Amino acid sequence: PDLSQMYNLNDFEFVARHTMEKTAWAYYSSGCDDEITLRENHVSYQRIFFKPRVLVDVSEIDLSTTMLGTKVSIPIYITATALGKLGHPDGEKVLTRSAAKQDVIQMIPTLASCSFDEIVDQAIDKQTQWLQLYVNKDRKICESIVRHAQKRGIKGLFITVDAPQLGRREKDMRSKKVEDLSHVQGDDDEADRTQGAARAISSFIDTSLNWKDIKWFRSITKMPIILKGIQTVEDSLLAIEHGVDGIVLSNHGGRQLEFSKPPLEVLIELMPILKSKGLQDKLEIYIDGGVRRATDVLKAICLGAKGVGLGRPFLYAMSTYGDEGVYKAIQILKDEMIMNMRLLGVTSIDQLNDSYIDTRNFQTR
Ligand code: FNR
Repeated sequence: PDLSQMYNLNDFEFVARHTMEKTAWAYYSSGCDDEITLRENHVSYQRIFFKPRVLVDVSEIDLSTTMLGTKVSIPIYITATALGKLGHPDGEKVLTRSAAKQDVIQMIPTLASCSFDEIVDQAIDKQTQWLQLYVNKDRKICESIVRHAQKRGIKGLFITVDAPQLGRREKDMRSKKVEDLSHVQGDDDEADRTQGAARAISSFIDTSLNWKDIKWFRSITKMPIILKGIQTVEDSLLAIEHGVDGIVLSNHGGRQLEFSKPPLEVLIELMPILKSKGLQDKLEIYIDGGVRRATDVLKAICLGAKGVGLGRPFLYAMSTYGDEGVYKAIQILKDEMIMNMRLLGVTSIDQLNDSYIDTRNFQTR
């Protein structure tokens, strides 16, 4: 179908499923084990309802906000997803170009198919990019990546903490073909190429990474440090104790621990606790996983998230329609945001709060 027939983000997924090369589809779409967490990431958003207010002057709507000090056009960002060239010959650069045109932030993955510098070179003017870091066992490699990123103007270091080992993604394993790994780090000889793309590229990740290491990261960079893959209230509080600048509530898009709770549920639990302790301004809270509609974005923001990451929708848009696809996907979200904010009775992002949502379907402790 023509791009003009894409009415929402799920449409891109539908086209991707039917047109993408099998291996690429398997790698992008898979979750771990029986894909229960993958499913629940979506379903959790469907359990929250709005409490819209009427008779508010909603003629002017402003979608802009800030994330880690950068002004952005909408409270979403393109999160890090590995191996962009499986879906498009230009890989992550497609996402960079569309992010620039739409004034959103792109998080560059450690395991990008394009080199880090290629992706940064693609950026225009003062376009903001973040870096997602898989921590290498060899801390010298890690340090040089981080220092180089800071030198190249990266505005946030997102350390992935939910992946000491990559989860078991059986769809991906079945497709078995491991291609396009030319740029990834690690020891190729050690990689078990029968285990699917995910396993094969992850052997360099440091399984010993722990809370004590945060201090070391602080000592080597001035970039804001954000922990990506926090899955509990307990670890959110530890993150604050360790002085990081932010967290991403995430279960890696349902690709790591099966039955890890949907991040939205963690957010619902977390915010009242932070508020009761007066800690809500100590760090910025981001969230990803299962977000496909502006209504999802609005729910997360109402609950206290500063920004919302989307992974697969942009991979699917990139793989099916390239630059124009990703641009359109973001435009769809913007159009949905404006309409739904009007219907909700708010005119700017800072007006969103928990008085606009009903979370009674969730039991908090
Ligand atoms: C990911 N994700 C991810 N996260 C990370 O920290 N480093 C990585 O290399 C990757 N790679 C990756 C590849 C693919 C194909 C997917 C789908 C996801 C996780 C990603 O950053 C994010 O947490 C999820 O994608 C969010 O869920 P949705 O938006 O895909 O539902």
